[in-house]
Amino acid sequence: MSCKCSFPLLFSPLKFGDGLVSKNRLLSAPMGGSANYDGSFTTEGIAKFEQLAKGGVGIVCLGETLVHSKTGNNHGRVLRLDDPGIIPSLRRCTAGVHRHGALASIELIHPGRRADPVWTNGVTYGPSGGMCHFADGQHPVTELTQELIDEIVEAFGDAAEMAKYGDCDMVTVQGGHGWLLNQFLSPNTNQRTDRYGGSIENRSRIYIEIAENIRKKCGKGFGIDFRLSGSDFMENGATLEDVIELSKMLNDKVDMLHISAATFDDKRASQRMFPNMFLGPGANEFLAREIKKHVTVPVVTVGSHGDPWLMEEMLSKGEVDGFAMGRQLLADVDTPEKARTGREDDIILCTRCEECMSLNFIPYVKFALGGALCAVNPWNGVPKTPAAQGNLTVLVVGAGPAGMEAALGAAEGGHRVILCEKSDSFGGTLKAVWGPDFKANVKRFVEVLAKRIEKKDNIEVRFNTTVTPEYIKELDPDAVIIAIGAQPIRLDIPGAEKNKVILSTEILEKGLGDKVVFIGGGMAGCEEGIYAAKNQGKDVTIIEKTGAIASNAPFVHNLAIKIEFEKLPERLHVMTNSQVVEIRENGVIVENETGARSLVECDTVVMCVGMKPKAEEAESLHNLACYSRIVGDAKKAARMNEAVTDGYFAGYYVQEAEG
Ligand SMILES: Cc1cc2nc3c(=O)[nH]c(=O)nc-3n(C[C@H](O)[C@H](O)[C@H](O)COP(=O)(O)O)c2cc1C
Repeated sequence: MSCKCSFPLLFSPLKFGDGLVSKNRLLSAPMGGSANYDGSFTTEGIAKFEQLAKGGVGIVCLGETLVHSKTGNNHGRVLRLDDPGIIPSLRRCTAGVHRHGALASIELIHPGRRADPVWTNGVTYGPSGGMCHFADGQHPVTELTQELIDEIVEAFGDAAEMAKYGDCDMVTVQGGHGWLLNQFLSPNTNQRTDRYGGSIENRSRIYIEIAENIRKKCGKGFGIDFRLSGSDFMENGATLEDVIELSKMLNDKVDMLHISAATFDDKRASQRMFPNMFLGPGANEFLAREIKKHVTVPVVTVGSHGDPWLMEEMLSKGEVDGFAMGRQLLADVDTPEKARTGREDDIILCTRCEECMSLNFIPYVKFALGGALCAVNPWNGVPKTPAAQGNLTVLVVGAGPAGMEAALGAAEGGHRVILCEKSDSFGGTLKAVWGPDFKANVKRFVEVLAKRIEKKDNIEVRFNTTVTPEYIKELDPDAVIIAIGAQPIRLDIPGAEKNKVILSTEILEKGLGDKVVFIGGGMAGCEEGIYAAKNQGKDVTIIEKTGAIASNAPFVHNLAIKIEFEKLPERLHVMTNSQVVEIRENGVIVENETGARSLVECDTVVMCVGMKPKAEEAESLHNLACYSRIVGDAKKAARMNEAVTDGYFAGYYVQEAEG
């Protein structure tokens, strides 16, 4: 049977180095190493990397991995390629990757001034002195001596050699993102006056020495990939011009360049490192495209890739040679295989909600999760066990994300599922938030789930159906999963009954006037406000009771929102520590923390003050069958990840719960 692949370029082999061939143009970007404290791979990590290979990428990148933990260890639980103790677990890991025809790379890292002194005998090293972010910015950086630089260069080579023993096909040297090598490149962190400082040749020297050392120790057939930030996107940081020069110097010493962006040294720059939803797909591709003009080795781009149509188009223009995907593979690890086998319509695209990275973003969060949650993939980070099979009748009430997931979860166990929905379509409250273009992947998520549901013979969908206790009694199902969601909170303030006042869920349906006041500056209000101001040219004022906006957004997304606000100062206004005390014909009366009142003129007022679970209705449907669960927003109004996970597993484990 021939394969229905619509992406011939994406699935053409990528030849690089001395005889290395990736079966396609897709790589998994490094996303942490799944390490034990002794620096070896965890069993779950080994399974995760095999899963990435099974999902179809041509190259799986393992790691981050330390090369010289004595002088550079960022958080203790990191893979260590300076200890041969890693080799048995590394070999198990690479065997899993090779089993599915992928190549295994491993990311080599030295954190430099990002090394946590807790793990490095109290000393944090960098190209130059100064202070690093530990101890509230008061921890000194010790300048590396020539002797230590030599030791670190050798350590990169030794680590690569150990990786080769572990059956890796190549290494990915982390030369960007504000890690040690990038610290040498960036004038911001490199004020040396010796052969490592000043000119671009000097600031690039350590890259060249490392590339040469790896080649010397590993030979020609072993691949060397350098991960670079195409620009630091930071004042006094490395520029695209610097990186072009560096790339030209690396060109005949490495086999591939992998172009990311930005540095951890500037949290604003992180918006390019994990490109936010406002930046759109393929946000950093322009950097790779520019660098490719100056080198002959293949150039891979990373940053918000995942849509196979877009990637195929970029390849057709010859702009880049391949794509590394990070968050997309958390959202849907099977993205490549689905695209290769004509199932691209089933790919769930990452929504760039930043849930995954925010929870790991040291130093900006106090404790790293050490794993990643995904808003659209309940299985992310969870070892998959086969669903227990049964033949229960499962009634799912509500076809929002939690209900759709519950239906799919239960259907996997072979049960007969009846999915009832009050309205005439799928999506629940998500329907109200997917209006902005930067939320397009939320809409797609619902569409993909809808298609999956439609394909399942054992799911019957009943739209325009209100489930009552009587309905349940009559149907007499074995299990009921109540996913009826939440409703927007309506504030009781004078004037709230006026026509100009709408709820956050009514924006798409009722539209907005030219001057809009949002009451409530949580994540939802801010996103809608940005869209109204940026895309629709409205004059928007957000009035927030507390001192901060979007405080319920994941850290990286919270910052993204604030940056969007800064871009449109003339149309997006924020009043914090303020409350609307009255709504009048011509606007709203706002009281600030000092008690001073002012009029903000507007012709639409949107109440965006949160959602409350439909608790009473949910309770009335609860415990009317042997198995009964209230899930998602109906239980607790929360973020998408919680609704999706809660709903899916309520359905998936319905048989076990039944006993
Ligand atoms: C949870 C998570 C962990 C990451 N860990 C690493 C890492 O260990 N090393 C690294 O170089 N980049 C790391 N990254 C960055 C990714 O490799 C990638 O460059 C970034 O996520 C942008 O690509 P994407 O838009 O496809 O996600 C991580 C990203 C995420 C989301």
